[in-house]
Amino acid sequence: MSSCLQQIPVHTAPPYQVTVGPGLLRTCGPRLQEVLSPCRIAVITDSHVAPLYLERVCESLQSAGFSVVSRVVPAGEQHKTMATLAQLLEFLAEEHLTRTDCVAALGGGVIGDMAGFAAAVYLRGIRCVQLPTTLLSAVDSSVGGKTAVDLSAGKNLAGAFFQPAAVLCDTDCLSTLPPEILADGAAEAIKTGVLCDESLFSLFESGSLDLPEIIARCVTYKAGVVERDPTEQGERKLLNLGHTVGHAIERCSGFAIPHGHAVAAGLAIIARAAETRGWTDGPLAERITACLAQNGLPTGTDYSAEALAQAALSDKKRAGDTITVVAPRQIGVCELRKLPVSQLQSLIAAGLEV
Ligand SMILES: NC(=O)c1ccc[n+]([C@@H]2O[C@H](COP(=O)([O-])OP(=O)(O)OC[C@H]3O[C@@H](n4cnc5c(N)ncnc54)[C@H](O)[C@@H]3O)[C@@H](O)[C@H]2O)c1
Ligand SMILES: [Zn+2]
Repeated sequence: MSSCLQQIPVHTAPPYQVTVGPGLLRTCGPRLQEVLSPCRIAVITDSHVAPLYLERVCESLQSAGFSVVSRVVPAGEQHKTMATLAQLLEFLAEEHLTRTDCVAALGGGVIGDMAGFAAAVYLRGIRCVQLPTTLLSAVDSSVGGKTAVDLSAGKNLAGAFFQPAAVLCDTDCLSTLPPEILADGAAEAIKTGVLCDESLFSLFESGSLDLPEIIARCVTYKAGVVERDPTEQGERKLLNLGHTVGHAIERCSGFAIPHGHAVAAGLAIIARAAETRGWTDGPLAERITACLAQNGLPTGTDYSAEALAQAALSDKKRAGDTITVVAPRQIGVCELRKLPVSQLQSLIAAGLEV
């Protein structure tokens, strides 16, 4: 089909392809025929995405011979709950989906995580395809198989590792994103640049946002990490750069601060802390904060180190008396550092703006 498509294989068990480029929602039917036998597809989306893209997806699937049903859930992280998950599972059962059928997650990370989790547990697992519509879900959440819903005790506390059968990332969708939601995705992509790819980071410094190129680079990196460490025993923890403090900020705000904005602030804070502790090869925090700010992202928070440490320690990434944080050494090189939990508060304090 079109030559401006990029295809990135993910060699997990089972393997799948991520396709990135324009027009993929209008052609999703024939594309999914390549990976699915004729079946029933339940398209799950949210109330913002449905009026924009649901019809074109259902039409393309139907004309390719799939039997299609759809369900729209209210948009927003506050609906990424067990209650919505239960409604989705009841919906799949009411629509008589069987083990050979499929769920299509059409939306951002909230829909991808929740519909992916529904597919993982319905009948002990039916296939799922991811159709990401935000930059964040394109560069990060649609790839790698992490699915989840939030519990009152914290974010993503109930979930499963469940790889999709395919990911179709239609870059045309990004044109309808409000700037602050685009910025959320930029935060995860800048994070990837700091982790492994200085030239990706430089794209954000230069302001030349070639989004298909940025998505393909982020997905290629994430695919490699996920192939080597599918269930986050080691290397995959690096993807949590900025997330220890980021999740704490989200939590302190009662999830009013969106994930990408919180990760940006978390990244700036850990960069300043790492520099202050002498863990970096020279100065880098200023370069990171300037890049985040240039892309419409925050570089700090008003929450205290104490509140953030408390929130971080109730996160699931804690293991007994230690916590693993990801710290940048240079742009493009990061490392895992294990700390006694008692030192987390002073580390965060070292990273807060004065
Ligand atoms: N599974 C993973 O590996 C992983 C990684 C990172 C983040 N996440 C999760 O992803 C979620 C955040 O994802 P998100 O930022 O995409 O949030 P989101 O899914 O809530 O989308 C943000 C907003 O944009 C709207 N929207 C989506 N696509 C649109 C489009 N094309 N045009 C206009 N509006 C559109 C949505 O309705 C929503 O209001 C969090 O729950 C986070 O925990 C998961
Ligand atoms: Zn994230």
